[in-house]
Amino acid sequence: MSLFSPTTVGDVDVRNRVSLAPMTRLRASADGVPGHLIATYYAQRAGIGLLVTEGVFPSAESRAYPGQPGIVTDAQAAGWAKVADAVHAEGGAVFMQLILQDREGVVTGVGAGAGASGE
Ligand SMILES: Cc1cc2nc3c(=O)[nH]c(=O)nc-3n(C[C@H](O)[C@H](O)[C@H](O)COP(=O)(O)O)c2cc1C
Repeated sequence: MSLFSPTTVGDVDVRNRVSLAPMTRLRASADGVPGHLIATYYAQRAGIGLLVTEGVFPSAESRAYPGQPGIVTDAQAAGWAKVADAVHAEGGAVFMQLILQDREGVVTGVGAGAGASGE
């Protein structure tokens, strides 16, 4: 076994034992849809065995930053499907990080819950 030998994570085949840590990039559209910039970013890094995406908001309330992508609407899900297709086309594997930053969204004024707590 070496760093570059194949492995599996759950039922996902991974071509080596290197991972990309989740890193917020803030490249989504205003409505949180991941577009070609994000697909290109991850596809370019598909040689890393397992990519973990930037933190993705799973509810409108948990959005924390402008430019953060979500997985709430059909358009966002379709955008991520294209990201995954682009990574798979390069032989990579990708997991999505879901991140709940409700309170941070309130502080930055971006999340749908902003203002709800009086902050
Ligand atoms: C620009 C930037 C964005 C980041 N975004 C996320 C993120 O979305 N989710 C997360 O869990 N960690 C995020 N991190 C933390 C990195 O994943 C972390 O720095 C990396 O795992 C290395 O760990 P270390 O900083 O303890 O050495 C981010 C780090 C940087 C530098």
